[in-house]
Amino acid sequence: MASHAVTRHDPGPAGAVRIAPSLLSADFGALAEQVGEVAPSADWLHVDVMDGHFVPNLTIGPPVVASLRRHSPLFFDCHLMITDPAKYLDDFARAGADGCTIHVEVGGTAELIAQMRSLGLRAGVALNPDTPFDAVVPFLGQVDLVLCMTVFPGFGGQAFMSEVLEKVALVRREVAAQSLAVDIEVDGGIDTQTAPRAAAAGANVFVAGSAIFGRDRPWEAADAIRRAVEVNVT
Ligand code: DX5
Ligand code: ZN
Repeated sequence: MASHAVTRHDPGPAGAVRIAPSLLSADFGALAEQVGEVAPSADWLHVDVMDGHFVPNLTIGPPVVASLRRHSPLFFDCHLMITDPAKYLDDFARAGADGCTIHVEVGGTAELIAQMRSLGLRAGVALNPDTPFDAVVPFLGQVDLVLCMTVFPGFGGQAFMSEVLEKVALVRREVAAQSLAVDIEVDGGIDTQTAPRAAAAGANVFVAGSAIFGRDRPWEAADAIRRAVEVNVT
């Protein structure tokens, strides 16, 4: 239980534009190098954790987070697409995660938020594209981040679902109405075309996998997304 001894990294002010490259599209054989290349143009590193159960894909777990932690000072934004986060949150905290985001669809949300807090993690809640706004309302006052998935989770490279923007706007309106310091993140199909639309709806954290690591110069691709959204978020 040494999680309290792990250094947590500054997420920056809530509501500010954050560009979060998603590792999912990186070269898994050269992760540290890829992260180092994109770091000057990134605010957070988005780490997609999949268990082959909540989503039909397997990716990475705490050992990879621990290894990358030794190579990067970025804020590690761990997106847990897993059925049983309670079992692994402590491992992620000890590995050096800064924030974890659990899916509201797995249930036990209030308990999971409390567990993340007790581990010193920034706490996020994610909603699948077909999960309604109402599902997150009871937790808005307890979280640091709401992730509105703009694709069904599981794979990179899918098409952005613009119908989710309505929900992004509802979350932003409620966060503003309650004067909450909550980030609103979008993830899935984010690029220079879709990010400004998400920003206009109220998102401020932009996860992009294929539009960043899928490009020859990932740092330039991240900068391009930042420029595309900056005009929309104050
Ligand atoms: C999908 C993941 C995403 C994914 C996004 O389940 O949560 O973070 O990496 O990839 P792109 O940006 O390619 O849609
Ligand atoms: Zn993700």
